Amino acid sequence: MTGISFGSDNHAGVHPDVLAAVVEANSGTVPAYGDDAVTTEAKRLLRGHFGDSAEAFVVFNGTGANVVGLQSMVRSFESVICADSAHINVDECGAPEKLLGAKLVDVPAPGGKLTVEAVDAARWGVGDPHHVQAKVVSITQSTECGTVYSLEEIRALADYAHERGMLLHLDGARIANAAVSLGVDLGDLGAAAGVDVLSFGATKNGAMGAEAVVVLRPELAGSMEFLRKQSMQLASKMRFMSAQVVALLTDDLWRRNAANANAMAARLASALEDAPGVTITDPVQANAVFAIIDRRATEVLRTEFPFEVWREDTGQVRWMTSWATQASDVDAFAARIREVTGDHA
Ligand SMILES: Cc1ncc(COP(=O)(O)O)c(C=O)c1O
Repeated sequence: MTGISFGSDNHAGVHPDVLAAVVEANSGTVPAYGDDAVTTEAKRLLRGHFGDSAEAFVVFNGTGANVVGLQSMVRSFESVICADSAHINVDECGAPEKLLGAKLVDVPAPGGKLTVEAVDAARWGVGDPHHVQAKVVSITQSTECGTVYSLEEIRALADYAHERGMLLHLDGARIANAAVSLGVDLGDLGAAAGVDVLSFGATKNGAMGAEAVVVLRPELAGSMEFLRKQSMQLASKMRFMSAQVVALLTDDLWRRNAANANAMAARLASALEDAPGVTITDPVQANAVFAIIDRRATEVLRTEFPFEVWREDTGQVRWMTSWATQASDVDAFAARIREVTGDHA
């Protein structure tokens, strides 16, 4: 193995400022389960972005954040409409269905993005006791395909949902990448865009392991403490997780980390733009490049730089960058891709 990994932003280490914050939190005894000053600070900082009525609940991981957030929004006979490519649909081992006890209705979503038309086609049987009742639209921002919803696209989905008594959930495992891509603040992707509950992703943004559910509708927040505990997402020594959130929200570290990740993906895409053996398949708007290359080239390249084969049938691959990716890593990878795909063009 010669090169660094382009397999996932989860392959990166922990940002030194985050580690330092965890070490700093490691002094003395403090109350457990979130009744500590660091968690209070994390909640205050999240309110600073998402608004005074935002209630934040720190959890262990992104799957947990999605499950706990969605649990506050649906009952067993209601459904969650999501993209076919949504992490909740294909990458959480059925955890949402198991723990919500409710149905996910997945719809085709080119580029990973839901549209009002696609959601509307999936919402039927309203009032009919033979059918699940559509209650939540769940979007991912940035998407699993490395694309980003515009504020207008989110607002259109929110308006559609709210006009029908439904709610909008946002999986923000990469919300920082989306905010940087759009040139907006994190809060612009929350209540301001019509989102009701979101997950704030810290792990992929440079944390060691921490996320938060941010509830933007006060009437949904009351059950959250209970749902989090029931879902095994309540940390006893929460200060160490909250410290990670605080570090990312201090001095705009979240923004700097996401900006680097996004810039490195853009650099990779532009280095490969005119490469004869490479077809970039989706707009590169965050920190992932999706491309189709020859399968034999994939085989060779993966012995040198780890990355994911996204679709076996088409040979589509995913190259991801992170807060830690260096320009020199990208340049070396791009040069090698050109070389190897050239051999198999
Ligand atoms: C879009 C999205 N949502 C949620 C998650 C949460 O994952 P985990 O439970 O592994 O933290 C991920 C991780 O890859 C993701 O890509």
